[in-house]
Amino acid sequence: MDHNKIVDSLRTVLDPKTGQDIISVGLVSDFQVNGDHVGFTITLDHNDPEIKSKLNFGCIEAIQKVYPQAQVHIHLNSQIANKPKSGVLPQVTNIIAVASGKGGVGKSTVSANLAMALKEKGASVGLMDADLYGPSMPKMFGIEGMKPGIQELYGKHKIVPIETNGIHVVSIGNIVDPEQAVVLRGPRLGGIIKQFVNECIWPSLDYLVIDLPPGTGDIQLTLVQTLPVTGVVMVTTPQQLAYIDAVKAMNMFLLENINVPVLGIVENMSWFSPKEDPSKQYYLFGEGSGRQLANKANSILLGQVPLIMAAGKAGDTGKIAFHESEEFRNIFSDIALNLMKQLKLRNETLDPTQVVQVK
Ligand SMILES: Nc1ncnc2c1ncn2[C@@H]1O[C@H](COP(=O)(O)OP(=O)(O)O)[C@@H](O)[C@H]1O
Ligand SMILES: [Mg+2]
Repeated sequence: MDHNKIVDSLRTVLDPKTGQDIISVGLVSDFQVNGDHVGFTITLDHNDPEIKSKLNFGCIEAIQKVYPQAQVHIHLNSQIANKPKSGVLPQVTNIIAVASGKGGVGKSTVSANLAMALKEKGASVGLMDADLYGPSMPKMFGIEGMKPGIQELYGKHKIVPIETNGIHVVSIGNIVDPEQAVVLRGPRLGGIIKQFVNECIWPSLDYLVIDLPPGTGDIQLTLVQTLPVTGVVMVTTPQQLAYIDAVKAMNMFLLENINVPVLGIVENMSWFSPKEDPSKQYYLFGEGSGRQLANKANSILLGQVPLIMAAGKAGDTGKIAFHESEEFRNIFSDIALNLMKQLKLRNETLDPTQVVQVK
């Protein structure tokens, strides 16, 4: 029996937690083939007998499809005590939250265009629209009315993100009718965020960008209690008022028991240049708060984004500004490069973020 063929056959068996195949997420180890005998270990971070049994039979079936004579010996190991550090979304390398103090400063615009820019660099990218009060992603990506897929995994129904422009998107706007006036409250909000994490089949991702609502509330808290957020990107406009609120929002992430590092600042709506005379820059909202915030956070200014008419229009018409304006595309390409550098530095110098434990 060929070792590689057996491994390939196991790629058809899915991990109940991530929906990815058990080989890709590294559940299988100690592989041995001896005559008609094949043995290996599957290590799980839970002890659910039903899932264990399904995995066991799933593996035997997959191997015997290729080698009907195979005698399969599986050692199912539960490693509950010393769970790997990031047991949540192990298939996602970097989790980036996009936050601000105020609404309307451009978080959703930054999230969507940053996701596009990262994807253009060849990365696999997901986008979680965590602004449950005002989801923007369906409109921004022109996917209003589309529903995410549902896949059954070991008897449970899971959400499959919508793939659009090569990005995997989950938004409450694609699940609940936007017209339906649901008054979502604290505990419900948290539950939905948890579903976006635990009941969603996210593919293997280099980056998961999370578009947050403004400020510090239930959603931000649930997020850091559910996911190991690698870092946060703060968005501000040049106004002093936006700066003051951004500092407050930022401070939540920096709290000792939350400890999510600030990867950088994006200053949005920095200036306006008229088409007739691009050399002119009008600083409609003042200057400097992006850099000021970067200094305060001991971080860097990832980039400044001017007011661009095509960008504002794109957001309203289901076209992504990234595709509509070359200037926008170039700016976000630079922001993505700066962010990638910051992430590399962060991952080399700081420990992985821990999920905040609720006392
Ligand atoms: N740089 C920009 N140039 C022009 N319009 C912009 C720019 N950034 C954001 N907008 C527009 O401003 C509005 C608010 O932006 P949005 O990203 O929804 O903010 P937030 O998510 O912080 O509430 C949207 O209509 C968006 O299209
Ligand atoms: Mg928004």
